Amino acid sequence: METMQEIENQKQYIEKVRIQNEGKELKYYILTMGCQLNENDSEKICGMTEKMGYKLTEDYTQADLVIFNTCCVRENAEDRLFGKLGELKKVKEKRGTIIAIGGCMMQEKHITEKIHESYPYTDIIFGTHTLHKFPEDLYKILENKKKLQDVIDIDGNVYEGIPIKRTSNVKASVTIMYGCNNFCTYCIVPYVRGRERSRHPKDILEEVNLLAKEGYKEITLLGQNVNSYLRAEKWKEQGKEYKGINSFATLLKEISKIDGIERIRFISPHPKDFTDDVIDAIASSEKICKLIHLPLQSGSTNVLKTMNRKYSKEQYLELVEKMKAKIPNLTLSTDIIVGFAGETEEDFQDTLDVVKKVCFEQVYMFIYSRRVGTPGDKMENQVPEEIKHERFDRLKELVESQILKNNQKYVGTIQKVLVEGPSKNNPELLTGRTDSNKVVIFEGDLSLKDKIIELKIVSEHMWYLKGIII
Ligand code: 5AD
Ligand code: SF4
Repeated sequence: METMQEIENQKQYIEKVRIQNEGKELKYYILTMGCQLNENDSEKICGMTEKMGYKLTEDYTQADLVIFNTCCVRENAEDRLFGKLGELKKVKEKRGTIIAIGGCMMQEKHITEKIHESYPYTDIIFGTHTLHKFPEDLYKILENKKKLQDVIDIDGNVYEGIPIKRTSNVKASVTIMYGCNNFCTYCIVPYVRGRERSRHPKDILEEVNLLAKEGYKEITLLGQNVNSYLRAEKWKEQGKEYKGINSFATLLKEISKIDGIERIRFISPHPKDFTDDVIDAIASSEKICKLIHLPLQSGSTNVLKTMNRKYSKEQYLELVEKMKAKIPNLTLSTDIIVGFAGETEEDFQDTLDVVKKVCFEQVYMFIYSRRVGTPGDKMENQVPEEIKHERFDRLKELVESQILKNNQKYVGTIQKVLVEGPSKNNPELLTGRTDSNKVVIFEGDLSLKDKIIELKIVSEHMWYLKGIII
C-alpha cells in the first residue's frame, strides 16, 4: 500500500514538472550502461522523463537534461562515466544542462564521494532504490537549483505503475524479480541492488497481457536470479499461489498460455536453482526459446568454491546433460570470468574443458575485475593482469572456433526468424533473430518487419547467418 501511495505522489510531481516545462521544447539525453535489467530501468526513467515534457535527443550537447544510468559490475564502466562527466562540463556551462546520475554505481560511497569532489556540477545523484523518485528529485532541482543526493541502502521494495517507454515495439523486457541473495564473492550486485524480492504474479501477467495486446511478440523475463522467483516470499512453503503460480516454473507455464506472445526468453538463471520443473516447463512449451543462458563463471570446482557458486564442475556438466536429454534442440550460452583470485593454470584448463564439452552457442567472457567491498577483492592470491589477459585470449580463441563450428550446423536448415527491420550495416537487407538468438540477414520486403517468418540458412559468417525466404 505504501509503495502504491509513493507512486501516486510521484505522479503528482510528474504533473508539476510537466506544467513548468509546458511550451519549452526541452530535450533529454540518456546513456545506459550494463545489463538488460539496467536497460529496463532506463525504459522507466525515459517513461517518467517524457511524461514530464522532455523529448529524447541522441546529441548530449543539445540536451537540457542528461541522465546516466550506471553499472558497477566491472571497472571499465567507472572510467567511462568519469570520461563522460568531464565532457559534460562545457555543455553545462553553455546550456545550464541538468545532470542526473543514477543506477548501481551510485550505491557505492567511494564513487559518490569522487563525483562530489571532482564533478561538483552534477545536479542529481539517485540510486537503485530511489529510481521511482526521479520526478520528485528533478522537481526539487528545478525549484531550488541546489544539488541533491537521493541514495538509500535498504533491502528494497517493489514498485508497480512507473510509466515506461519501451525501446522496441515487438520485443519487450519484463522484470520479474529484483535483487540477489547469492553473494558470489566476485560480485557487487547484492550490495547495490538489495535482497531478492519478486513481483506479484498478477502484476507480471497484467503487464505481459498488455504487451500481447499491443502487438509484442517476444518477451524476456529479467531478474538477477530468475529461478528463485517467489522463493524469498516463501510462497511454496506457505501453500500460496495465484492462478497456479508459486514458482518460476509455474510462472513460465502461465505466461506461455498468453495468446500473441510467441517467444519467451529469460535471464539469468543460477545453475544451482535449475530444478526439474523448470526443465520440464521449457521442454513442454513451444514458445519458450531453446537457447538457455546458464552462467558457468568457472569450470574449476576449486574456483567455483571460492566464488561461492554452490556447484561443482561435475554438477554443472550433469545439469547440461540432463537438460540436453529433456529439451530437444537445446542450445546454451554462458558467462565466464577469467582470472578470479587463486585461479591456477590447472583451474583455467578446467574452464577450457567445460567449454569444449558443452560447445556453447555464445560465451560472454569477462576478465575478473576487483570490486571494492566484495570478499574477492580481499583475497590475497590475485592473478597478475598479464596472465588474466593471456588466459582471456586463449579462451576467446577456443570460443570463436566453436562458434564457427556451431554456425556450420545451421547451413541448410529452416529457421523461424523474428524480423527486426533493415540491417544497420546494409539497409538494403533485412535482419532478424532465430529462436537461438542468432542474427540472420536476408533479402525481403519491409512489410515483414515484426513478423515471425521461416528462412532457409544458406551461409554462415561468424557473427551472423545469411538466409533466403522459403
Ligand atoms: N569481474 C568480472 N566479471 C564479473 N561479473 C560479475 N562480477 C564480475 C567481476 N567482478 C560477470 C559475471 C556475471 C556477468 C553479468 O558479469 O560473469 O554473470
Ligand atoms: Fe552476482 Fe552471483 Fe547474484 Fe549473479 S547470482 S547477481 S553473479 S551475486
